[in-house]
Amino acid sequence: MDLERTRNGEISLKDEGRTLKVYGFAKRIRKLGGLTFIDLRDRSGIVQLVIKDEEVAKNVHHEYVLEVEGVVRRRENANANLKTGEIEIEVTHLNILSEAKTTPLIIDDKTDALEDVRLKYRYLDLRRPINQERLRVRHQIKMSVHRYLDSLGFYEIETPILNLSTPEGARDYLVPSRLHHGAFYALPQSPQIFKQLLMVGGLERYYQIARCFRDEDLRADRQPEFTQIDIEMSFITQEEILKFIENFISTLFKDVLSLDIKKPFKRLTYEEAIRRYGSDKPDTRFAMEIEDYDDLRKIDFAPFKDESHRIRGIKVHDVAHLTSRKVIDEETSLIHKYDKNATFVAIKMENGEIVSSIAKFMSDEDKLNIIKDYDLKDGDVLFVAASSNYQRLSNGLGALRLKYGEKLSLIDKNIFDILFIIDFPLFERAEDGSITSTHHPFTRPHDEDLKYLESDPLKVRAYAYDLVINGQETCSGSMRIYRSDMQQLIFKILGLSKEEVERRFGFFVDAFKYGTPPHGGMAFGLDRLTMLFTKTDNIRDVIAFPKNLNAVCPMSHAPSRVDEKQLTDLGIAVTDYENN
Ligand code: AMO
Repeated sequence: MDLERTRNGEISLKDEGRTLKVYGFAKRIRKLGGLTFIDLRDRSGIVQLVIKDEEVAKNVHHEYVLEVEGVVRRRENANANLKTGEIEIEVTHLNILSEAKTTPLIIDDKTDALEDVRLKYRYLDLRRPINQERLRVRHQIKMSVHRYLDSLGFYEIETPILNLSTPEGARDYLVPSRLHHGAFYALPQSPQIFKQLLMVGGLERYYQIARCFRDEDLRADRQPEFTQIDIEMSFITQEEILKFIENFISTLFKDVLSLDIKKPFKRLTYEEAIRRYGSDKPDTRFAMEIEDYDDLRKIDFAPFKDESHRIRGIKVHDVAHLTSRKVIDEETSLIHKYDKNATFVAIKMENGEIVSSIAKFMSDEDKLNIIKDYDLKDGDVLFVAASSNYQRLSNGLGALRLKYGEKLSLIDKNIFDILFIIDFPLFERAEDGSITSTHHPFTRPHDEDLKYLESDPLKVRAYAYDLVINGQETCSGSMRIYRSDMQQLIFKILGLSKEEVERRFGFFVDAFKYGTPPHGGMAFGLDRLTMLFTKTDNIRDVIAFPKNLNAVCPMSHAPSRVDEKQLTDLGIAVTDYENN
């Protein structure tokens, strides 16, 4: 094709009188008197064609691909809504390059097609300008990343896709080996181990726009295969890395959105984030902070009297009239998703009086005190939860806070609210009571907390940091352990046996015995950054060919069954076929 051709969306009055060749899809076809008008769409936009010859025009239908030659004319009635609205092309030659069946979805920014239909015909969905714009922004981000990191001396280096399992905490996607029956590669959950080995290899500054694979429950911001901007550097401190992230992110905002971002970014410790917002990725675009409601202990209500319980809550204005029994039940279920043992109540202020299911436990004095202590005005509601599990209780209230932030439109969607969360705990307790890494097992413990490593590991903070933008975890990273004795100790605390360490990470621990520079790094979620930059809350919008929420590609139907012969070659027998 003609690489020098004129783009449809760029033709203007300055081309008036020129003969041009244009290409594209026939978007809209209208007949007026003896004339036919066609909106011809290419990636750059739309230009209006005028065809005088009805014999030629009658063969053109929607989404036909055309090659057109014609003369640029000034329009009699300019269309102010269209970039090329002042001109049209009077067609002299028209060549139908490809015909099209009637499309199963409307190819326009506004389409009523369901997502599964759009994903089934993704190649048609991608013709919609809104999707082309999203992929353009994604590309711009990647180009900005390449330019910026190259300017700082980073090398882009690929790491293996056929891998040994890496410990990011999700389930692996496995690939059976044909040459070694019974052995499997794991697709990388991230390049974590390899990027650290690149530091041992003396490469100093590495990055990679890396595909990662995680078999986990999908959500609006999670895909089974996604892309990280993965970075690692040697001879660096946490403070320098946080500065780097600030510069990196502000360069992206400037390059892609022409926005100046204020530096330094806000910082919250993990402890503060949980205490005030009930989340390690708090949306701080609105206040409504979670508070300790210890004054409620005075009420003669058993869950509040229980010394082992923390009493925490949020105060919401102007919702008393909306807080019906049914609504309280819904909010209780939300809290119980996080902490099934929590007690949850609403204390409403209506017509100068306290209204609550626990009002019967309050004396008149209690009521007056509550109104005073919590400065309650008519319409206010205190949502209060009590439980012995501070973390879960806070997480539940954090979710409720977000729900009311949305419900009451308290969130300014036009701003970018950027903050670091620092000082994550090194370990956390898993569902089964065991100790696991909050980030991953290579994260360096805080020097000040080394003394607690063995006696009280849950108290140890890590040199780990997340970047949160508008309540979304956009980047996560840490300083790494670079001494093999420390790494062994962490594995021990995690309950890994010597054999298991040897089997899973032997090569890694060994590598550290030959001189390892102190190093650290991070990974940005490219998909999530693109979501933020294009203002969508659906990760599938920013990936050319995404999977649906069942991890299926509705277009290709992957995953699918394979031939018996392929299985035999791999030494695999399927015992449990899904009924489909
Ligand atoms: P982490 O697991 O936090 O860290 O991932 C880094 C960033 O990747 C994005 N992300 C995802 N995006 C879409 N779908 C998913 N399923 C998904 N999972 C993660 C998020 C997240 O912040 N190796 C470490 C990084 C490091 O320590 O350098 C890691 O992978 O934006």
